[in-house]
Amino acid sequence: MSATPQTHVPKDLSGRLPVTLPQLAEKKRLGEQIVMVTAYDYPSAQVAEEAGVDIVLVGDSGAMTVLGYPSTVPVSVEEMLMLCAAARRGLTTPLLVGDLPFGSYESSDEQAVITAQRFVKEAGCDAVKLERGGTSAQRARAIVDSGVAVMGHVGLTPQTATSLGGHRAQGRTADRALQVARDAIALEEAGCFAVVFEAIPAAVGDVLMRLLNVPVIGIGAGAATDGQVLVFHDLLGIYDGHVPRFVKRYAEIKAQMVAGVAEYAADVRAGAFPGQEHSYTIDPDELALFEARLVQGGVVRTGRG
Ligand code: KIV
Repeated sequence: MSATPQTHVPKDLSGRLPVTLPQLAEKKRLGEQIVMVTAYDYPSAQVAEEAGVDIVLVGDSGAMTVLGYPSTVPVSVEEMLMLCAAARRGLTTPLLVGDLPFGSYESSDEQAVITAQRFVKEAGCDAVKLERGGTSAQRARAIVDSGVAVMGHVGLTPQTATSLGGHRAQGRTADRALQVARDAIALEEAGCFAVVFEAIPAAVGDVLMRLLNVPVIGIGAGAATDGQVLVFHDLLGIYDGHVPRFVKRYAEIKAQMVAGVAEYAADVRAGAFPGQEHSYTIDPDELALFEARLVQGGVVRTGRG
């Protein structure tokens, strides 16, 4: 094993072109895996950009990972738009998908179209994502008809986790697997350019892959899907709430962040920071003049130290 430390080499991103929907379909055709990751702000988007992912999802998981809500349910459209706009500023290449939050698209086609268009116009998203089949498939069709690309999401749909019996794997009986199949097909027929499968048995994922023509991105759905997605804060070890079985940790960033801030705090308390190298200088003559002028100008009186 080499002991050479890994150094970060900034990539030259100048030659990269934005990822398009036809390119994603082509990747599926060629059997090339599609890489998707969530991001919620400028720095995480820049990380995704430099790492060369294909799709960045500003997931409503940001409600929990960056806004501190106990679930994805409370996050508002305004909050999601702010996160999406920040991510947009950090991205050039990956396709940017914004998650429509719970309560922002279910009531009517009109509500769904208005919300989806805000994600495109105000936050610069390339596409939006919504959860479930049923009426959501109808909403997806309305959004697609209005000119906005839509990604579907079936299986474990966290916005309605309560009615699914909690945050647990879905499709584990024949009937429930059939429901997932129906939802996925309905979303494809509604015009979705891709569908996310979340937390379903790998064997069910295998079967469903035979039924869909659009790219399928899996998260806890086995290895047969056309691509994978993970939540940024889960894969990098930044979020330390509940970590689902399907997460693989690639780093322990939170521990490093805590260690860094703790070292800074210790340095400040010990007088070890800032050092001279962190301080600005002034010409000694200018400093003497400044001190004299403080007195002359009456800003400080002599004898006050
Ligand atoms: O909100 C999110 O991060 C998601 C992914 C898990 C697909 O919906």
